[in-house]
Amino acid sequence: MMLAATVTGLKLKNPMMLAAGIMGTTGGSLKRAAQAGAGAVVTKSIGIAPKAGHSNPSMVDVDCGYLNAMGLPNPSYKNFQEEIDKAKESEVPVIASIFGGSADEFSEIAGALCADAFELNVSCPHARGYGAEIGTDPKLVEEITHAVKSAVNAPVWVKLTPNVTDIKSIGLAAQRGGADAVVAINTVRGMAIDIESGYPILGNKFGGISGRAIKPVAIKCVYDLYEALDIPVIGVGGISDWKDAVEFIMAGARAVQIGSAVGENIDIFSDISSCMDAFLTEKEWTLDDIYGMAHEV
Ligand code: SIN
Repeated sequence: MMLAATVTGLKLKNPMMLAAGIMGTTGGSLKRAAQAGAGAVVTKSIGIAPKAGHSNPSMVDVDCGYLNAMGLPNPSYKNFQEEIDKAKESEVPVIASIFGGSADEFSEIAGALCADAFELNVSCPHARGYGAEIGTDPKLVEEITHAVKSAVNAPVWVKLTPNVTDIKSIGLAAQRGGADAVVAINTVRGMAIDIESGYPILGNKFGGISGRAIKPVAIKCVYDLYEALDIPVIGVGGISDWKDAVEFIMAGARAVQIGSAVGENIDIFSDISSCMDAFLTEKEWTLDDIYGMAHEV
């Protein structure tokens, strides 16, 4: 296998990670994704206090992907280290996704958890006072990133929202705050309406779209961030097969994360790894050769 990668100092056996929010609430399910071949796993976003999330329906299949407004349900960081420790038994890096309403909350959570890296969720598109309400303000993104960097001794990644005019300005703010990498993208804001009743389907009325529909949006964001930033970009959004993963790396992603597609096929990590490996071998390319290749033209 020619797929080993190092991302912000973390050694990965392959560059395909489990994205935040999928199978990430228990150590057992994180471990299951690692055993299925993920190079690293990211937890569900964890906050300061237990949170039930938005009312149901909180997720709906919209043909081209999924629309969700889970509302950041989580057991709080005070009840989560055990799950991270269990996931660590899989011997792949375990990244804690965390969210808060202020720099103090972010640093309190990060400072209390022991993980291989932290992914700051400043991008959930439908949680009042959290996520994208923070992640659309470059000053807040810089301040939060800086606060977490000062509180931990592990790489800090910042997950960005595509629901902005210029994602580069937010990526640059994260970089100024000391981020080791950015992760692009979180879901794209969206909505679905039930035509029998005329009501919005989601309990929260609107939510975020993931899956195939958002891949071209994510590719463009990764491409732009690669040009603008000095720190690595981790690509996520609509990856469903090995060709998608190659495309992200060619756009400038050092590694990728897979979310929605894992729900349909847990073996997607090993499927992508073996096909990507065969493709690189046939082309006589390495991962480094294809990294940012689309920028060479
Ligand atoms: C959620 O729990 O609502 C989804 C999290 C996210 O979109 O960041």
